[in-house]
Amino acid sequence: MQKIIIQKISKTLAQFKLIGLVLLLAASNEAKAQVDSVKAFEFLSKGDKQTKQALEFKNGAVVSAHPAATEVGVAILKKGGNAVDATVAVQFALAVVYPNAGNIGGGGFLIYRSAKGEINSMDFREKAPALANRDMFLDANGNAISEKSKEGHLAAGVPGSVAGMAELHRKYGKLKWADLVEPAYQLAKNGFKITKMQARELNRLKQKFQQFNPLGTAFVKNEEWKEGDLLVQEELANTMSLIRDKGRAGFYEGQVADFIAEEMKRGGGLISKEDLKNYKAAWRTPIIGQYRGYKVITMPPTSSGGIALVQLLQSVSQYPLSKWGHNADSTVQVMIEAERRVYADRAKHLGDPDFWKVPQKELLEPAYNSARMSNLNWNKATLSTDIQAGEFAKKESEETTHFSIVDKDGNAVSLTTTINTSYGNYVVVKGAGFFLNNEMDDFSVKPGTPNYFGLIGYEANAIAPRKRMLSSMTPTILEKDGKLAMVVGTPGGSTIITSVFQTIVNVVDFGMDMQTAVNAKKFHHQWLPDITNLEPEALNEVTQQKLEAKGYKFDRRGSIGRVDAILLTKKGTFQTGADPRGDDTAGGW
Ligand code: DON
Repeated sequence: MQKIIIQKISKTLAQFKLIGLVLLLAASNEAKAQVDSVKAFEFLSKGDKQTKQALEFKNGAVVSAHPAATEVGVAILKKGGNAVDATVAVQFALAVVYPNAGNIGGGGFLIYRSAKGEINSMDFREKAPALANRDMFLDANGNAISEKSKEGHLAAGVPGSVAGMAELHRKYGKLKWADLVEPAYQLAKNGFKITKMQARELNRLKQKFQQFNPLGTAFVKNEEWKEGDLLVQEELANTMSLIRDKGRAGFYEGQVADFIAEEMKRGGGLISKEDLKNYKAAWRTPIIGQYRGYKVITMPPTSSGGIALVQLLQSVSQYPLSKWGHNADSTVQVMIEAERRVYADRAKHLGDPDFWKVPQKELLEPAYNSARMSNLNWNKATLSTDIQAGEFAKKESEETTHFSIVDKDGNAVSLTTTINTSYGNYVVVKGAGFFLNNEMDDFSVKPGTPNYFGLIGYEANAIAPRKRMLSSMTPTILEKDGKLAMVVGTPGGSTIITSVFQTIVNVVDFGMDMQTAVNAKKFHHQWLPDITNLEPEALNEVTQQKLEAKGYKFDRRGSIGRVDAILLTKKGTFQTGADPRGDDTAGGW
């Protein structure tokens, strides 16, 4: 029965409702969990994302940005794979069905927590090519040539995703590697039906894809893309088969490495075969913080996310947020002021720890962060120009996607991965069929000059050969009383940190269930520019007016975050939150 269900689910989204019905009739004696796995897809067929309810599963759950990738992950869990096996399969599946962010041409970060409580984190972030130099995006007058770090071949860092998955699987995987890459190969070879959002984006970017891929790519066709069109990726299928059969060597050596080198030659890029061969993912010690009885396990540098998240939580922990209420004026004021201070520290102090001495211990000192809040003026917004990064005695650094997975034993993975902005640098490696990243823009290309996300940086995050560019990605796992409590993360560039922050506060302080916490409207401040971005309806009018009277400036923003998360309930079930802002989908059994 189980097998049949998985196969049937894999057909089309439109069939989900029907399958649900068949199942409900046929499965009265089957585990309730199987019915849940169908329910997970059913809301999509309704097309009414805002009604998304929290789902609960007993034996494992996957929440990712695309229904087909979630389905691959659930199938692996049902086959007896652990959370790491499902992670590898979902990462590769997303590279096929969510090519704007899912990738083999980019990188990412992950937090792992085993059922027994072992924790680890992996940095598979891209690196600057060996030929990169700190002024490579400046013109003769020393001004930043902004599009060069965002579009085209020079914008690409050396990809880390395949090395990261191979190393993760070597250390913690259970099922055979080839079986985990196979679903991605099938999806590329046979094609998958694109969603409405994907059709819109592919049409919108057609001219860019043509500009950067004069030899043609699977993402461009003569007619307009429509929802439900089949996207077949022959070249990517070949690449996936090489990765499936040869592991990391299938990407960093041989035919794919040749294709990348040729692509670089054609477009004037810097990535060499040597860079590819030398790329290594790094295991790092996770950042640990405490927040109202929860242990927060999160990502250390090269991401700024974990340090910033813990700083934010420490900064607000002295205030009674739950008494004030969700998005009440005092709550919002305190959170904005915390964000202003923490992002100032980010700009100055955070960078690749292999190149820059990050004052990690000092930044994570609870007394430091509560003291930073001591000049908060309840009557008046602090000006960002009045806030500087903290000084320490000794100091020397759209589109991403996140998924959360828990298996039946309680092993958990929180993984955020990206090629930076949507569809990366727009270059699809000819012959190999995948988009390259434009992650070089996450470096500070010039001190004090904002990157795509408006973030500024200085020496800590200057470009250097083989250095990793600073990130905001914040894959995070929470524990309570020694047990797994939450798996959470999101895309969103600079808003990643504040979205994870708000999601945690929504659950811990405001008692929301996982889906409600994800759905809740968000706001964002990042020190500079001195403005708070608001999703529509994030604040009620009176609250906004009260804050405006104190000098806070607001700006509307379509959406903030695409949080995909899992919460352990008191009953011991896995409750999911899949972000209604995208095609994000929860599944499980
Ligand atoms: O690493 C970072 O912080 C950025 N490259 C993330 C980009 C991102 O989240 C875009 N997504 N919406």
